[in-house]
Amino acid sequence: MTATQSVMLLAAVVVSLPGLIHAFQPLFSFDGNSTTHRDITRMAVLRKTAEVCRDIAASEGRDFSLTIDNSLSPDKVQRACLSSGNSTSLLSTVLFQTSIANMYLSNANVDVVYSLSEEHHFDDETFQGGRDVITAGVSAVKASVKKENFVAGRWILGQVCHTLQDFYSHSNWVELGKTAPYSTLIKPDQPLENLAGPTVPTCRNCTQGDCANNLLPDLLQQGLLTSGYFNLFSSAKPAGKCSHGGLFDQTSKQDPIGGISKDDVGSSHGFLHHNAADVAVNATVELLEDIRLAVGDKNFLQLMGLSQSSVLCFVIDTTGSMSDDIAEAKRVSFNIIDSKRGTPQEPSAYILVPFNDPGFGPLTMTTNADVFKASINKLSASGGGDIPEMCLSGLQIALTAAPPSSEIFVFTDAPAKDAHLKSTVTALIESTKTVVTFMLTDVLSSRRRRRSSQSVSPRDISQSDAQLYRDLARASGGQAIEVTKSGLSGATTIIEDSSASAVVTVFQTVKNPGKPDNFTFNVDGSSRNLTAYITGVPSLTFRLISPTGVSQSSSESSGPLASSTKTGNLHRLSLNIGNQTGSWQIRVDSNSPYSVKVTGQSSVNFIYNLVKPHEGAHGDYSLLEGRPLAGGNASILVTVTGSDTVKVTDVTLFDSSGPSEVNGSVQTVGSGIYLVTFSGVPPGDFVLLVKGEDSSSTPRSTPSGFQRQASTQIKTSSISVTAQVNNTNIAPGTTVSIPFTVASTTNGVVNDSASGTFTVQANNDRGYTSTSPSSITIEAGSGGKANGTVTLAVPASAASGTDVTLTIGAQNAAATDINFAVLRFFVTPKVTDVTRPVCLVVNTSGKCSSSSSLCASSQWVFVANLTDGVNGTGLDSISIRQGNGTLNTSTAAGAGGENITVATYSSSCCSQTVQLTMVDKVGNVGTCEGQLRETTTAAPATTANTTSTGGRTLSVSHSLWISMGVIFLWK
Ligand SMILES: *[C@@H]1O[C@H](CO)[C@@H](O)[C@H](O)[C@H]1NC(C)=O
Ligand SMILES: *[C@@H]1O[C@H](CO)[C@@H](O)[C@H](O)[C@H]1NC(C)=O
Ligand SMILES: *[C@@H]1O[C@H](CO)[C@@H](O)[C@H](O)[C@H]1NC(C)=O
Repeated sequence: MTATQSVMLLAAVVVSLPGLIHAFQPLFSFDGNSTTHRDITRMAVLRKTAEVCRDIAASEGRDFSLTIDNSLSPDKVQRACLSSGNSTSLLSTVLFQTSIANMYLSNANVDVVYSLSEEHHFDDETFQGGRDVITAGVSAVKASVKKENFVAGRWILGQVCHTLQDFYSHSNWVELGKTAPYSTLIKPDQPLENLAGPTVPTCRNCTQGDCANNLLPDLLQQGLLTSGYFNLFSSAKPAGKCSHGGLFDQTSKQDPIGGISKDDVGSSHGFLHHNAADVAVNATVELLEDIRLAVGDKNFLQLMGLSQSSVLCFVIDTTGSMSDDIAEAKRVSFNIIDSKRGTPQEPSAYILVPFNDPGFGPLTMTTNADVFKASINKLSASGGGDIPEMCLSGLQIALTAAPPSSEIFVFTDAPAKDAHLKSTVTALIESTKTVVTFMLTDVLSSRRRRRSSQSVSPRDISQSDAQLYRDLARASGGQAIEVTKSGLSGATTIIEDSSASAVVTVFQTVKNPGKPDNFTFNVDGSSRNLTAYITGVPSLTFRLISPTGVSQSSSESSGPLASSTKTGNLHRLSLNIGNQTGSWQIRVDSNSPYSVKVTGQSSVNFIYNLVKPHEGAHGDYSLLEGRPLAGGNASILVTVTGSDTVKVTDVTLFDSSGPSEVNGSVQTVGSGIYLVTFSGVPPGDFVLLVKGEDSSSTPRSTPSGFQRQASTQIKTSSISVTAQVNNTNIAPGTTVSIPFTVASTTNGVVNDSASGTFTVQANNDRGYTSTSPSSITIEAGSGGKANGTVTLAVPASAASGTDVTLTIGAQNAAATDINFAVLRFFVTPKVTDVTRPVCLVVNTSGKCSSSSSLCASSQWVFVANLTDGVNGTGLDSISIRQGNGTLNTSTAAGAGGENITVATYSSSCCSQTVQLTMVDKVGNVGTCEGQLRETTTAAPATTANTTSTGGRTLSVSHSLWISMGVIFLWK
């Protein structure tokens, strides 16, 4: 899987870390031949996604030729899934790759948050506890999906997968000879059986370090299930019990010595590592199937992130003077909706957040374009008046609702009243990599007065008010467009540009203070429709120069290289690239601040995540949310998307405001993923620039070098904010306390002689009650650190699957430096309904002729009583999973007072089996199967859950015999 060389490099980088993991390796395989949680999760997601697409294709009568095995890539799967896709069309797998990365990063995070929780890892024979973790998680995933909150759903799903996968590494399931998953773990209404009791000995000493035969033969003969004990600090364990094993597991040093883990090929039972990993993949596929049945195919594919298009997200000021702007937002969004409906470019969801004063919200998030249209139609500009608006509050809720890497458009003509949220909003922009573009109408310098009687209205945006919006735009990689109300329709072209397929950023920079400069960017053969955006003062001029030296100035609106338009402070250039790939230049002449952005459309792009080496008990890396430390090392996981033939050659952190440029050392870790390490990143605001080569023959010219740039700025900080979270699930009606530590750092390490006072802000996106110290002081002689506690109260009414993002920010006294911890919590009530809906077959009747050519003219009927029982939450949906007939339902009361749904399925005799899927209100899935017996007269069936083998299979083999006979005759 990974080249030995790169593994050596990787091992050299991490050798200083404590390498004491007690689970499948979370992200990276140190030996180059072990399967990680990342691999297992990725394979399972790709396989299940492909299977769902295959089933959908079959039901629509389309071909689906992809072979489903463990060698799938996101590009292959997404291409195969696109019903209208073909190999030459533009495809962006950025969203799919981002979703997969979020799932494996949240999976890996379990080793950080729950490092000492035995049930999250099925250690210490905690089978009931481990299954409860899975049950609660699965229920929360289903609840999130039901609310179309796919971001939260993915995050929880990643966590659940970790626990499920660990079972196969930490228990003796594969040693018992099992090759299929232990389905009982995801069926909470089935008893956990054959567990070795608390006093049953399970292991004996390993002999001279060889643990191949340390499980007691009796245990294996009786088929009893056990798992290894694990403890970092204490060697105590019940007599005769197996340990996890490994250098850091103290219990494995006590009789019985050794362990049974299969975490990697070097573990105590490493010889079974691949068997365990294979079953773990299949178990994860089985879990995904359960979720798919509960939420339906369409929602399931959205949960997996299988989408070509991003969301369309507007945050709109609805005060009195905004009616023109609202009309324009409506026009442009309707235009996008109407032109893309039914195509793969149709926005995957729509988000609308109105704000004014004192209110903001509610947030509308929907996948239904008509619901969005209705919401935007309902907006009316009213009230407000002479006060600034709650712009950042509206933006904050949009930022937490939108999937990562979305683009948000904010329309306003007023300064923000809630500018104190700037640092929280900045933290959210950085952690979600959202691009925020502001459509500012009537900024003070743009002359037009709304109130002729007054010289300056408080609603007008002054240059300094506009700077707040410019700063946020810059941090996110968006733009601050300043236009007159009448010019707005010219500027909204950029909204339509951004909703095109597979938009990539080729180059972007902001110069503040402005000075004349020359920018070069590389255009590769895979990129189409290059567009440049330049914003700045009216006196700004520029010149565009092609690789062959042809040039065009800003005064030519149409020339050999581009056609351009100017609206407000925005120049938009459509580049005419022709076959001129290579190095292009833009020379800007301005001494005022300006920005330059060049985008194109290409399948080749990248995603990235800041990661950090684990502190403490577990090795490997986990997601870093917050800023990397100035002067320290930064690690970034880069995944190339859109091509299996692309190679990354250079990754650079590039500071547009200064001379700093830091080159990363690039190591491949397989599957198009690279771990890039930067050492000694100086203070500054950086953007990530990735360069590489595509070795496949592109439609145009030679193998071309490409460059892509991340939108969001990466800022370093000398403040470290870490929160100690040991549970991310919160029950409604409870309050959690989150201890956190602020430290002052120098060159990436805590400066233990530092002192100082820091302003602390804790904000959450749900408006839940939260307390926090307003400041925190690092006293001299306290080791450079100070501790505080934030509390967060979740109301009793919070619904299952709700996510809460809590941002804890600390700013230095001079207000020149800030850092954050971004924490996600999920509302997961105790699951009370764990039983699946059941069915009792009442009757199967009908006469089917034995001649298959006459099948269409005869009918059969299947009647069953479906119920979720007296204590269940009740049936939520019933659907036909297999069969072409029609289903009618009616309700009745059962003997015990439970609600019964009478399902009557009738079908032609051409299809003689039926499978119904029943889902209750919390997502437990039951199936109900029926079939017409292979007789010509009616035969009442008496049992529920008849399997679909039996008569049907017989008839298939019967007809096979007949056709074989025919073949023999023909010979
Ligand atoms: C990895 O392990 C598998 C199964 O044990 C073995 O077939 C393969 O040769 C190993 N590969 C490397 C690079 O060690
Ligand atoms: C494939 O897509 C390209 C670009 O969208 C289109 O021009 C071409 O006709 C499509 N080919 C097929 C076979 O559909
Ligand atoms: C297991 O090994 C330990 C250490 O060598 C030894 O003290 C103990 O007696 C052994 N137990 C058995 C049952 O042989």
